[in-house]
Amino acid sequence: MKNIISANQFKKEDLEKIITRAKVMEKECKSGKIKKLLKDKIVACIFFEPSTRTRLSFETAAFKLGAQVISAENAMENSSAYKGETIEDTTKILCSYADVVVIRHPKAGTLEAAAKVAIKPLINAGDGANEHPTQGLLDLYTIKKEHKRLTNLNIGFGGDLLNSRTLKSLVPLLRQYSGNKFYFLSPKELELPREFIRELKNNGVLFEESRSLEEKLPELDVLYMTRVQKERFPDEDSYNKVKDLFIFRKKHLKNMKKDAIIMHPLPKINEIEIEVDSDPRAAYFRQAQNGLYVRMALLCYALEL
Ligand code: CP
Repeated sequence: MKNIISANQFKKEDLEKIITRAKVMEKECKSGKIKKLLKDKIVACIFFEPSTRTRLSFETAAFKLGAQVISAENAMENSSAYKGETIEDTTKILCSYADVVVIRHPKAGTLEAAAKVAIKPLINAGDGANEHPTQGLLDLYTIKKEHKRLTNLNIGFGGDLLNSRTLKSLVPLLRQYSGNKFYFLSPKELELPREFIRELKNNGVLFEESRSLEEKLPELDVLYMTRVQKERFPDEDSYNKVKDLFIFRKKHLKNMKKDAIIMHPLPKINEIEIEVDSDPRAAYFRQAQNGLYVRMALLCYALEL
């Protein structure tokens, strides 16, 4: 049984296996000949926060592999959490019904608490502003597919870095590969937590922080934009003050390398101008599709199949 709680749990050899497996899944999906490796398995998806991609791609992945799905969306209201049930009790119950349990929760650290009582594999589908490891893995797969390498890349993260859980899962994965340098591009109000920066410094990770989205664009192989996460702000006013500070516009494309890619975990609101979508370097819809193949691979990984 293998939980997927944090990107930090993966060694490089695990990452290579997952990427290889996802490639097989992609090939099988495209040929229409998918091995039903999860036949007779039940996958539970319980989401205490909204989701389009993560929940529906996990459910699609499960169906494609022959599993059946039990699902609770809007679980803060539609599950017994509404009546005050603890995540530990909910987890125990889900483990008594399903073979693998996928959970999204607004509170950082919830999956670690759930893992203490789980007797079936748990998958973290995002816990607050903490981590989103399956997103990190599909991002890694996307970069490998687009650039044909995971080394010697300049990767810029732009926008709300404070609240981005996808950054906090992708950076630990990419730093396992040599020669990568990170550029953290955000207004002061949305900068990365200082303890995250201190940890990078202490471990000799190459990075720069900048208050400008534009300055470093010519150097980047990957620009990873993030949404300003309204739901994590204490009030509307503090959100409104920062929501439009970092917008990637069509005019910025000319400053980027011809083979650079623009990524975004989605949903995007206005942080990327809509005209950018049609540029071949806009990789975010391809990235979301890759989520299906990677999550098929991850369901097999969790079940040790
Ligand atoms: N990227 C991502 O987690 O999207 P959803 O919130 O739609 O699942």
